[in-house]
Amino acid sequence: MTAAAEFLKGKLGTLAPRYGIVLGSGLGSLIDAVADPVRVPYAELPGFPVGSVSGHAGELVAGRLGDVPVAVLSGRVHFYERGDANAMRVPIETLKRIGVESLILTNSAGSVREDMPPGSVMRIADHIAFSGANPLIGVDSDDRFVGMTNAYDAALAERMEEAADRLGIPLARGVYMWFSGPSFETPAEIRMARVLGADAVGMSTVPEVILARFFGLRVAAASVITNFAAGMTGAELSHQETKEMAPFGGQRLAAILKELIASEG
Ligand code: HPA
Repeated sequence: MTAAAEFLKGKLGTLAPRYGIVLGSGLGSLIDAVADPVRVPYAELPGFPVGSVSGHAGELVAGRLGDVPVAVLSGRVHFYERGDANAMRVPIETLKRIGVESLILTNSAGSVREDMPPGSVMRIADHIAFSGANPLIGVDSDDRFVGMTNAYDAALAERMEEAADRLGIPLARGVYMWFSGPSFETPAEIRMARVLGADAVGMSTVPEVILARFFGLRVAAASVITNFAAGMTGAELSHQETKEMAPFGGQRLAAILKELIASEG
């Protein structure tokens, strides 16, 4: 039991979240859908990393989507903030210790595909960990050899597709390639990413997927496409653009996740 889990259990009383959700930059709109929210700033949670990226709030919000109890992590820390791929270990372990079974991860990403423009929502079907880092480096037991063949849970993936269908929201599907950041990719790196089978590129999520599998959580993930990747248009990329564009796809992704969770039988 982490100290943060003890503290949270005290705060949440009988509310026992079954789903965890990690919200990326500019994707905060799902928070407004959480009923009877209990808000806990990361600063009050022992061991939770307080991030430095603008557009990331840094609080845990527990409550209900429909009748289903959830814990939303609004804001994450990234590998590029401190060079530590393990930065999200305490938050993810804490979700596990308070009883969460499934973790849904979201992010903003650049599209490598001409047919997936900004504003699209993409279900992450698989990933390529291109940064060379791994959060399990240094774990001193055979538990570190986590299988990644079925990292993205098939049943959750199907439910995400069904939720999008019911809402009539187009949902792309693809491979997310993790670059360390914080500089954006070069046009040559994006051509490489395409050749290697990536559909979208970004700076987060993959270490969290690995940690979640380490802790035995089921995982689903989705990207909001905020821009075409480097070199695909004449434009330079910026974090400002990510923040401005994220709410467009973000609202539709929030609707899909709400439908996915609240419709649970
Ligand atoms: N590259 C990496 N990360 C990103 C991008 C991108 O083009 N857009 C949003 N996050």
